Amino acid sequence: MRVTVFGTGYVGLVTGTCLAEVGNHVVCVDIDQAKVEGLNRGVIPIYEPGLEPMVRANHGAGRLRFTTDAAAAIAHGDTIFIAVGTPPDEDGSADLQYVLAVARSIGEHLSRPAVVVNKSTVPVGTADKVRATIAAALAARGADVAFEVASNPEFLKEGAAVNDCMRPDRIIVGSRSPRAVEQLRRLYAPFNRSHDRVVVMDERSAELTKYAANAMLATKISFMNEMANIAERVGADIEMVRHGIGSDPRIGHHFIYPGPGYGGSCFPKDVQALERIARQHDYPARILAAVEAVNDAQKGKLFELISRHFGGDVAGKTIAVWGLAFKPNTDDMREAPSRTLLAQLWAAGARVRAHDPEAMDEAARIFGERDDLVFCDSPDAALEGADALVLVTEWKAFNSPDFQAMAGRLRARVVFDGRNLFSPDAVEEAGLAYYGIGRGRTLRHD
Ligand SMILES: NC(=O)c1ccc[n+]([C@@H]2O[C@H](COP(=O)([O-])OP(=O)(O)OC[C@H]3O[C@@H](n4cnc5c(N)ncnc54)[C@H](O)[C@@H]3O)[C@@H](O)[C@H]2O)c1
Repeated sequence: MRVTVFGTGYVGLVTGTCLAEVGNHVVCVDIDQAKVEGLNRGVIPIYEPGLEPMVRANHGAGRLRFTTDAAAAIAHGDTIFIAVGTPPDEDGSADLQYVLAVARSIGEHLSRPAVVVNKSTVPVGTADKVRATIAAALAARGADVAFEVASNPEFLKEGAAVNDCMRPDRIIVGSRSPRAVEQLRRLYAPFNRSHDRVVVMDERSAELTKYAANAMLATKISFMNEMANIAERVGADIEMVRHGIGSDPRIGHHFIYPGPGYGGSCFPKDVQALERIARQHDYPARILAAVEAVNDAQKGKLFELISRHFGGDVAGKTIAVWGLAFKPNTDDMREAPSRTLLAQLWAAGARVRAHDPEAMDEAARIFGERDDLVFCDSPDAALEGADALVLVTEWKAFNSPDFQAMAGRLRARVVFDGRNLFSPDAVEEAGLAYYGIGRGRTLRHD
């Protein structure tokens, strides 16, 4: 099938590549010329496991092309995906300018029937706006071309995006048009072989499904962080509590990890946007407001522990930071908890020696050159001359450090474990002080 994808970010590039991988002819279009030129040379703008060889193979086979030419891209596809960003507006609502710019462009160039599929995460009612925008642009040039609009929200996880795209848990198709549903069913058939994962619903329900999914996941994280903060105060260990509640199948073990707060390009903006949607419909979404407030406070948790340990004086201290990306297996640092921590450390006069397996280029781009930030080639190198270690992102490479060697390196002999990755006993046996998130046993260090 012939497919066009607007946007070559995490969603557009992965979707376009996976659709090409199963034999479709895909044209990806982006307004970022440097990105498109890079992709045409085989330079992948993001780190995503498995993506690079797949892009190269499909590009080489001629099934995957990259362009900035929207008109040519629109002429190519029978199915046209919109997968551009929907960043937060000043008031927290989703900014639709990029989605509607694509819709306008489709209306300006469409010359034969197509199904326009919105994959971006958008407020309820956006499919109607996209339809109206395309229709207005068609009318403005006196064109009469049949088109359908469907909502097909994306659920891939950064760090596992290719796998999620090739083996989706569900494929939500929001459309009242049998033709659009049929076309999407055919397009997704190769990803839908073992059992039917396609859930067909109306557009508004599809749009809300995406927000509801992310809000639920963010709620689980904030709930666990709230429990962790209670555990810390009452002298309980949240890790024991996590195992204890996760064994109830109604709760489950997934996604109930306490930590330094959620980040990334989706949860913070989507929780905010959904809260805003509710408010626009005269409903105060109290749970969402609390989820956000807990998360904002939690992002300061690691600095709070560090500051408390050093008696409120971290000026002149050198802190080794393991992990900058908002989660493992990505180089994405949007809304990453590390950013809050680094800002607080710098404001307090501390210096940072950081290591991340993939996100150091992105961090250098964000922070620029500064005297109080040194990027280190390895986890061990970050410990050189440091007073303390803070683990922020749970990359596998950080799992089993040599704590004896670490104790010989860290001047203040203290570890702050933002993901409860380490065994407190193993750390303490090496002569290091240990702080985790919600591990009440650490109260004795107070
Ligand atoms: N990143 C994720 O994990 C994820 C998962 C599910 C859903 N989403 C949603 O998918 C959407 C895209 O997210 P992303 O992370 O891929 O964004 P991104 O910021 O990584 O990429 C967006 C791309 O769209 C391009 N773009 C903007 N305007 C354009 C236009 N008019 N024509 C062509 N290209 C244009 C930008 O240059 C950029 O390359 C968002 O709504 C997001 O909420 C993201």
